[in-house]
Amino acid sequence: MKPAAPRSLLLCALCLALCCVGGARRPRRRGNHEWKKLIMVHHWPVTVCKEVGKDCPDPPDYWTIHGLWPDKAAECNGSWHFSFQEIKDLMPEMKMYWPDVLHPLNRSHFWEHEWEKHGTCAAQVDALSSQKKYFGGGLDLYQQLGLNSMLQKLGIKPSINYYQISDIKDALASVYGVIPKVQCLPPKPGEEVQTIGQIELCFTKGLQLRNCTEPGEPAEPPSRRPRAGAGPGLEVCEDGPAFYPPPDRAAR
Ligand SMILES: *[C@@H]1O[C@H](CO)[C@@H](O)[C@H](O)[C@H]1NC(C)=O
Ligand SMILES: *[C@@H]1O[C@H](CO)[C@@H](O)[C@H](O)[C@H]1NC(C)=O
Ligand SMILES: *[C@@H]1O[C@H](CO)[C@@H](O)[C@H](O)[C@H]1NC(C)=O
Repeated sequence: MKPAAPRSLLLCALCLALCCVGGARRPRRRGNHEWKKLIMVHHWPVTVCKEVGKDCPDPPDYWTIHGLWPDKAAECNGSWHFSFQEIKDLMPEMKMYWPDVLHPLNRSHFWEHEWEKHGTCAAQVDALSSQKKYFGGGLDLYQQLGLNSMLQKLGIKPSINYYQISDIKDALASVYGVIPKVQCLPPKPGEEVQTIGQIELCFTKGLQLRNCTEPGEPAEPPSRRPRAGAGPGLEVCEDGPAFYPPPDRAAR
């Protein structure tokens, strides 16, 4: 045990040094808004409501868009404010496929947040370089992926029976040819299994599908760990059974 003390002291000193370096660099990093992959985040409305314990009266019974997120950048241009006017033409599709599941009557706040946090960074790409192009591009990618019809074809439907996460991931990987990420709500007290919440598919800056993992990174996370960018409570799903909850229509 003896050598442990000096070594941990040394480690501490090293940590401190690294922390200081990190701290000193931070101002410079603010200007660094580099990213290389775009994440198309779909969420399952029933789970979105469950996550915050909200009793949503009539959530969509299809996967909707949470956002289109550059992987390593956020809030890239604080002076580029959201303008509802710019995306007025997209309203029918926005309401249908990119709704604010939790605040269906006040959705522009959600779009404003998505634009200011993620859109201002995505706008580095010509194809997404305005609010209209960003939201329109997100809608296009969503339509191209056709996740809802793909899941149906794969026979993956909301059910009181559980799915194996690996089956869902493998099925998605086989139809899209790339590795997706699937996120779940961990079981709440009294629940047997995790609940499926988000499905991510990733794109290059050229808007080509790519693996959500980096080359060499294992497709399976080593263990459960919170993921930055996920909503409160959502984590990468653990391998094993998962609940894909049906809309609770019968209860109303
Ligand atoms: C930030 O957005 C403003 C308003 O659209 C624009 O004029 C400016 O060029 C942008 N800055 C950068 C660095 O893109
Ligand atoms: C919409 O929500 C935002 C933030 O929650 C709030 O500031 C705004 O006043 C709301 N607008 C309406 C019309 O309710
Ligand atoms: C995507 O992941 C699969 C499985 O790990 C791998 O075989 C393939 O080479 C990856 N594709 C790219 C472009 O990295």
